[in-house]
This record gives sequence, structure tokens and C-alpha cells, in this order.
Amino acid sequence: MLKKKTKYVVAIVGATGAVGREMIEILEERKFPVSELIPLASERSEGERVDINGKSVVVRKLGKDSFVGVDIALFSAGAERSLEFAPAAVKAGAVVIDNSSAFRMDPKVPLVVPEVNGRALVKHTGIIANPNCSTIGMVMALKPIHDAVKIRRIVVTTFQSVSGTGKDAIDELAGQTVALLNFQDIKTKVYPHQIAFNCLPHIDSFLEDGSTKEEKKMADETRKILEDDSIRVTATTVRVPVFRCHSESVNIETEKKISANEVRALLSEAPGVIVYDDPKKDLYPLAIDVAGKDEVYVGRIREDGSIPNGINIWIVSDNLRKGAALNAVQIAELLLQ
Ligand SMILES: NC(=O)c1ccc[n+]([C@@H]2O[C@H](COP(=O)([O-])OP(=O)(O)OC[C@H]3O[C@@H](n4cnc5c(N)ncnc54)[C@H](OP(=O)(O)O)[C@@H]3O)[C@@H](O)[C@H]2O)c1
Repeated sequence: MLKKKTKYVVAIVGATGAVGREMIEILEERKFPVSELIPLASERSEGERVDINGKSVVVRKLGKDSFVGVDIALFSAGAERSLEFAPAAVKAGAVVIDNSSAFRMDPKVPLVVPEVNGRALVKHTGIIANPNCSTIGMVMALKPIHDAVKIRRIVVTTFQSVSGTGKDAIDELAGQTVALLNFQDIKTKVYPHQIAFNCLPHIDSFLEDGSTKEEKKMADETRKILEDDSIRVTATTVRVPVFRCHSESVNIETEKKISANEVRALLSEAPGVIVYDDPKKDLYPLAIDVAGKDEVYVGRIREDGSIPNGINIWIVSDNLRKGAALNAVQIAELLLQ
């Protein structure tokens, strides 16, 4: 449990990664009370420096002894590192907020989006999980609708940016784009196929039933966060040549009828959600506009005439901010209250 202090020692595991760097920026931006920042990464980055609040701090190599005196450890270095090192951090007295998939479906670990199920935090026993980046955007928009008219089924297709895979994938898209525009051969390392000018219906590994782990994560995590195992969810997750922000086309079937205008009104009141929906003026959420924003943007809200109680919406959120770093820092802020 976190002891009340005026300032906290915060470790970031994966501080040199796409999410880790964003975490440092967000801690600074939101004036999180940090007495000391301990940036941790692999031996590749040992000795590099990161800046916080005008101070330059040396990156250390992650080890089991990295957490002495740490109050809050934000993990963002992949599930293997979380499984290996999060228990050591908890043993040393830190509260862990984990961005990986390692503990999300563990019944003892709360899976938290503060605006949606912040109260789940009270049950934590040292580790709190941050949901998948696409799940966070979706539940932010669906929670008010579920509370009002109960969602029975969700059909979602995602259009996920390369920053969702991390810094090497950002370089791969940039490198391939430059190479192709210069009529040169491309290198493919992170993804199994060319990502520039292409869409890959493949995120994370394939399961026996032909779906992917990413698709299963969206279904399982949505039910856990909305605390309703009866919701049926089917997902198709697609990687697209966009640097930042995940977009999602979501079709829902509800128990009671709800009109598009009622959905618009509900979501206009929802914390952290912005309705941006004026198709007559060609206004709807776009990845390039939502990049760097904290809120989840929703547009293209319309009734689905193919079923009695159906709604279609388009959701865009910044995967590095609300989809990862911001949500983790918001969880830390809730812990201080
Ligand atoms: N990107 C997103 O939108 C997003 C959203 C939600 C959750 N997540 C999760 O957040 C985590 C990080 O994602 P990312 O996009 O930031 O990846 P990334 O850009 O590839 O960064 C990975 C970070 O982990 C560190 N790392 C890798 N292997 C390590 C090791 N053996 N020991 C210590 N540190 C190690 C890296 O350090 P080096 O620089 O030394 O290699 C780097 O700081 C993943 O678990 C991912 O699933 C990402």
C-alpha cells in the first residue's frame, strides 16, 4: 500500500521506450509530486540520460535490486520484464502500475481506467494493470452507453498506429516510407510484411481459433472493466501506416433502444470523452488531430438500421497517452487520493 507523502520516488521501467518517454512528459506536465525519478531500461540504454523537471537523470539497467526506496513503479517494458521484476518491486514496497498484458486478467489484479472503474483500485494488492491501448479508448466511450441501455454485443475493427508496437516500429514505418518514395528496397524487421502504404490484419500472435491475442485481449478486458461477463465482443485488429493514435469502428447492439442523439448527449457529458461529430461539415475524429490529446474522441455516431437496437460509432484516441502513459499516471494520481 502507498504511504502518504508530499513527494514520491517514481521508477519507470522502460523509460527509454515510446510509452516510457511519454510517461516522463506526463508526470512533468501534470506536476505529479516526484521527489526522485529512477529511469530503468535494458543494458543497451544504461548511461543514457532523460530529463524531468529541468534535471537530467541517468538511465540505469533494470535489476531485481532496482526498487529499494521506490514508492511507485510504472512498468512499460513488455510482459516478460513485468512477470520477472514486478513481484520484486512489490516486495521492496513499491506499488506497480503495469502497462503490459502480464497481469491484466489475473483476478487479484485490478484492471483500471480511472474514468470508468476507478473504484476497482481499492482492491489492489501491490500490482495494478493498465488495459490494452485499444480497449481503453473503446470502454471510455461505451461505459456511459452500457450504464444507460446495457450493451449486449460489440463488433469492433481497429486501425492501430505503429507507435503501439514501440519505437522500433516507428522507425520501420519511417524508414520504409522514405525508401519506397526513393525507389529503394525496404527492410522488414518488426512486422512480418511491409507496413508502409499497407494494412496488416495481424496484431500480436495468432491463436488456435484463427483470431489474434490482441483481439482476445479486447474482448476479455472489456468484460473485466465493464464488470459484465455477458457482453459478447468480436474484434478484428488491424495495423495501419499511421504513426500515432488508434482509430476504431465500433458497432454495438443494446438491450434497450437508444437514438444517435441520445448517445451524443450521453457522451458529451462523459469525463475524458469529446464528441466531435458534424459530418455535414466533414468533421469527425482523425488520428492526425487527436495525436497529443488526452481525451478520447468520438464521431460518426449513427443508428444501425440492420438490427433493432444498433449504434455505430468511430473512436480515436492517442495510444501513447490515454492508451498507455496518461492512463497509468491517472491511476497513480488516484492512488494519492
Ligand atoms: N506503445 C503503446 O501504445 C502501448 C500501449 C499500451 C501498452 N504498451 C505496452 O508498454 C510496453 C512498452 O511499449 P513501448 O511501445 O514503449 O515499447 P518500446 O518503445 O519498444 O520500448 C520498450 C522499453 O522497454 C525496455 N526494455 C526492453 N527490454 C528490456 C530488458 N530486457 N530489460 C529492461 N528494459 C527493457 C526498452 O529499453 P531499451 O531502450 O534499453 O531497449 C525500452 O525502454 C509493452 O509492454 C507494451 O505492450 C504499449
